[in-house]
Amino acid sequence: MKNKPALMALVTALLLSACAKAATPVPTPTLDPIALQGQAVFNARCATCHALVPDTIIIGPSLYGIATTAETRVEGQGAEEYITMSVLRPGDYVVEGFNNVMITNLAKELTSEDLDALIAFLMTLK
Ligand code: HEC
Repeated sequence: MKNKPALMALVTALLLSACAKAATPVPTPTLDPIALQGQAVFNARCATCHALVPDTIIIGPSLYGIATTAETRVEGQGAEEYITMSVLRPGDYVVEGFNNVMITNLAKELTSEDLDALIAFLMTLK
């Protein structure tokens, strides 16, 4: 068998490339299951208007770092309260430079479980 070394080299190369792939998984931030559920809600309902990367406006402001920004928005409102109010009653506080175009019937459209998960997810965006 003349070609055996070549074949072995090929097999080795294939094995190595398979190993190289397995050894470098894409780093994904780990979210707890509730926040993961909230992320899915976000992707389905909010991502059309809100980016999660800095300084990127789609229709609404980027929600990058919203858990931190939220604390500074309305005096007397903590981050979680502000975020909840922003989702349920977006017209109460309108971010400067934006129009109040967020849908207001989310409380009816989302289950309270999905809503809680969504808030939990947004609270991870520090
Ligand atoms: C039709 C586009 C649109 C959709 C869909 C939308 N938003 Fe918004 N959102 C906006 C706009 C525009 C603003 C800025 C005006 C205001 O404050 O209401 C905003 C503001 C916000 C703010 C306040 C941001 C800040 O910096 O204070 C939060 C939080 C927010 N949205 C969350 C959400 C979540 C969560 C969803 C999905 C359930 C959602 N939005 C869906 C357009 C949208």
